[in-house]
Amino acid sequence: MKSVKILLNESDIPRQWYNLAADLPTPLLPPLGPDGKPVTPDMLAPVFPMNLIEQEVSASRWIDIPEEILDILYRWRPTPLRRAVYLERHLKTPARIYYKDESVSPPGSHKPNTSVAQAWYNKQFGIKRLTTETGAGQWGSALAFACKLLGLECKVFMVRISFDQKPFRKMMMGVWGANCVASPSSETNAGRKILKEMPDTPGSLGIAISEAIEAAVTDPSGKTRYSLGSVLNHVLLHQTIIGLEAKKQLKKAGEKLPDIVIGCAGGGSNFAGLSFPFVAEKINGADIKIIPVEPKACPTMTRGPFAYDFGDTACTTPLLAMHTLGHAFVPPPIHAGGLRYHGMAPLVCQAIVEGLLEPRAYHQLESYEAAVTWASTEGFIPAPETSQALAAVIDEAKKAKEEGKEKVILFNYSGHGLMDLVGYDAYLSGKLSDYEMPDADLEKYTGQLKNLPKAAMRKSGKW
Ligand SMILES: Cc1ncc(COP(=O)(O)O)c(C=O)c1O
Repeated sequence: MKSVKILLNESDIPRQWYNLAADLPTPLLPPLGPDGKPVTPDMLAPVFPMNLIEQEVSASRWIDIPEEILDILYRWRPTPLRRAVYLERHLKTPARIYYKDESVSPPGSHKPNTSVAQAWYNKQFGIKRLTTETGAGQWGSALAFACKLLGLECKVFMVRISFDQKPFRKMMMGVWGANCVASPSSETNAGRKILKEMPDTPGSLGIAISEAIEAAVTDPSGKTRYSLGSVLNHVLLHQTIIGLEAKKQLKKAGEKLPDIVIGCAGGGSNFAGLSFPFVAEKINGADIKIIPVEPKACPTMTRGPFAYDFGDTACTTPLLAMHTLGHAFVPPPIHAGGLRYHGMAPLVCQAIVEGLLEPRAYHQLESYEAAVTWASTEGFIPAPETSQALAAVIDEAKKAKEEGKEKVILFNYSGHGLMDLVGYDAYLSGKLSDYEMPDADLEKYTGQLKNLPKAAMRKSGKW
C-alpha cells in the first residue's frame, strides 16, 4: 500500500511564517485613506493592535512564530498531508493527488491558524475583547475558540443567511463562550441603517465587517479591537504554516515540487496559506500551475475589475487595491458562505495581476457533485467552500488522464462539512440551483468604483 498519511512531528513544525510581500516582483499598492493618501500605521491603531499592524506592513521575508503560539497550535499541528489514492483509483488518473488536511483543527478548518495568532498578539497588547464578522461560521467559531484559550471576550456578527442555515456553528461559538448575533443587527448604526433599507436582506460579509468594526472602535474603554479572518496581509502570513509544512511533507513522500496547487478562495487566506511558499518557488523559476477557485455566483477574481475599493459595505475600511465586485454587492445565498466576499486579498490579487495565478470559477452544483464523489471515495465530507477546490482537483486529475501525464496535484482541504449538512440535504433533494452573476449586476455594483482612486495594473511581464 502506498503511504496515504504523511505526518510530521511537533519538532518539525515551521518556526517562521513566510511573507510573500518580500518577494513579489512588483510591490503591493498601499491601502488608501479617505483623502486618497496611503494610510499610516497610526490610522489603523483604533482597529488593530500595533504588533499586528507591524506584521501587516512588514517587508521581511520571514517572521518568527512565538513559542507560546506554537504551544497552542500543537493541539492539531502539524496537520496530516494525505494522498487521495481512493479518488485517484476511482478517476483512473495517473495524477498523484495530495491534500493538506486542515479540517482536523478543533473548529474544523484552517481558520484557527490565524485566530490563535491574532488573539495572542491582541492579548500581548493589553486588549480584553475582540469583535469580528463571520460568513459560514467557520471563522467565528475559530476566533471564539482562540479567545477562550487566551481568556479574551469575543463578539461575532454572523451573516444572516448563514445564521439561519447553520445554527450549529452558532452553538459551537456558544460552547467557546462567544456572543454571536445575526447581521445586520440592531446593535450598530451600520446594521440599523441596512435593516431599515432592506429588512429582508440575507446579509453579506461586507455588512457584518462594518458592524464588527463599529462595535470595536466605539468601545469607550479602548480595550476592544477588531479581528479579520482573511484578506489582510498578516492573516495570510499566519496561514503560510500550511504550505511550509506541505513542502516538508511532499519531500518526505518522495515528491519534488507539485505541478498544480489548488485552493478555494473567499478572502484568499487558505489558498494563500498553502500556495504562497510555492508561489515563491514559481517566482524563482519553478513551473507550477497555481489555481485559486471561487464560485460563479461571486466571481471576484474571474470577473471583478482590479480596483481600489472598500473592504466593507459602510465604507469604513481603508481602500484596498484588489479584484472586487463592489462593496455594496450582496451575493446570492449559496451554501459556500465563506466564499461570498465582494473583494479578495491584495496579495493574492497582485499575484494575479503578475500572471502568477490562474483563477477559476465553478458552479454550486458541480462543486456539490465533486464533494459527493469525494465523500464516496475518500470518505470525508468536505465543507461547501472546500468542495469548490475539489471540483478543480477532479478536473485537473481528469485532464492528466487525458494527457497521460503523472502530475502531482496538491490542494488545501480547508474544512470539513459536518456542520454544513443542510446544504448537502438541499443538494440531494434537488433543491439547489446554479446562479451566475448577470453582466448588468456586475456593471451596477462595480459602477460605484468610478469615483474612487484608480489602481494601477503594475506587472513585471515575466509570467
Ligand atoms: C472551510 C472554509 N474554506 C475556505 C474558506 C474561505 O476563506 P479564505 O479564502 O479566507 O480561506 C472558508 C471561509 O469561511 C471556510 O470556512
